[in-house]
Amino acid sequence: ASRKLFLLPGDGIGPEAMGEVRKLIAAMNEKFGTGFETDEGLVGGSAYDAHGQAISDADMEKALAADAVLFGAVGGPKWDPVPYEVRPEAGLLRLRKDLALFANLRPAICYPALAASSSLKPEVVEGLDILIVRELTGGVYFGEPKEIIDLGNGQKRGIDTQVYDTFEIERISGVAFELARTRKNHVTSMEKRNVMKSGVLWNEVVTALHKAKYSDVKLDHMLADAGGMQLVRWPKQFDVIVTDNLFGDMLSDVAAMLTGSLGMLPSASLGAPDAVTGKRKAMYEPVHGSAPDIAGKGVANPIAMIASFAMCLRYSFNMVTEADKLEAAIAAVLDDGLRTRDIMSEGKTEVGTSAMGDAILAK
Ligand code: NAI
Ligand code: MG
Repeated sequence: ASRKLFLLPGDGIGPEAMGEVRKLIAAMNEKFGTGFETDEGLVGGSAYDAHGQAISDADMEKALAADAVLFGAVGGPKWDPVPYEVRPEAGLLRLRKDLALFANLRPAICYPALAASSSLKPEVVEGLDILIVRELTGGVYFGEPKEIIDLGNGQKRGIDTQVYDTFEIERISGVAFELARTRKNHVTSMEKRNVMKSGVLWNEVVTALHKAKYSDVKLDHMLADAGGMQLVRWPKQFDVIVTDNLFGDMLSDVAAMLTGSLGMLPSASLGAPDAVTGKRKAMYEPVHGSAPDIAGKGVANPIAMIASFAMCLRYSFNMVTEADKLEAAIAAVLDDGLRTRDIMSEGKTEVGTSAMGDAILAK
């Protein structure tokens, strides 16, 4: 089977981090015959500089034709003055929209070697491995009406509308149940059914889908505010959390900080399965941005990008063993005491981007 990857390194530290993934892909092809075919394009500021758009139609075509897209990061002060429609982020938004990526997966994994440097007590986070599944294309960020109206008496009214339809809740919770089956078989659904109609519907639809198709998975419901509290109090009680766009945005940022640096956090965004092939469109990217403050210095942490590639192996190619091995290699290198500057602590060995990538590859 052919395995087509489309690489969009982007701006700032994006290309530096992607370079380490490129090494991994080449080595896997050579040693294990994995047969990855790669192509590369431009996105963000670098695309704007080349052709005045945050991503070209030609590169968008390639993204649509690939089995998976690997995305670095976009943006930087150089492009702050460019027009809004072609700003670097517009490239990312177009990819998400045209690939119809409705499910955002954000794992929060605490590598044992880093437990001591978490903002929480080591026993609370050590061995933590949870997955937040956030609905990405609906809810209050997109619902209509969405406007500011002038009330005429010196007052204005800002309006955002939370809208969820049954099919949107079904497809996102379906992803969460499917993923739970490959993990600890436990889903916690979070909404605010006590104050929101969309929360009542969310709860009903998740419950009905569970009963109809996923009764083997343990399902809990939690109010999203209580969920936020529980995430910080005892995060290991969770396996997969499924929630809407707004709550997911906040809860995934909270979960992220349980685990340490921004430079460690991967993500995946998945679309619906193709009617014929059953394959999902997918894009994998680190949570961090282009880090202009350290770009070009060779000190960026490539782990978020590499761990995003591990998610790609797992979710786009069902290469579960390979994904496990890659994640274990990251853990092993951290156990050996290697650290990039962002995660450096006393008594450890500081290395640059490329030495970190090489060490993971060697493992
Ligand atoms: P950022 O994530 O780029 O950086 C925040 C801080 O974390 C910086 O001090 C940076 O040096 C550090 N950091 C981030 N990733 C790191 C890594 N892999 N290794 C070591 N240190 C790392 O966020 P910031 O500074 O708010 O935004 C910078 C630019 O990136 C802006 O233009 C912003 O719009 C863009 N951005 C792009 C995103 C994307 O492409 N998905 C996401 C977030 C921001
Ligand atoms: Mg956010």
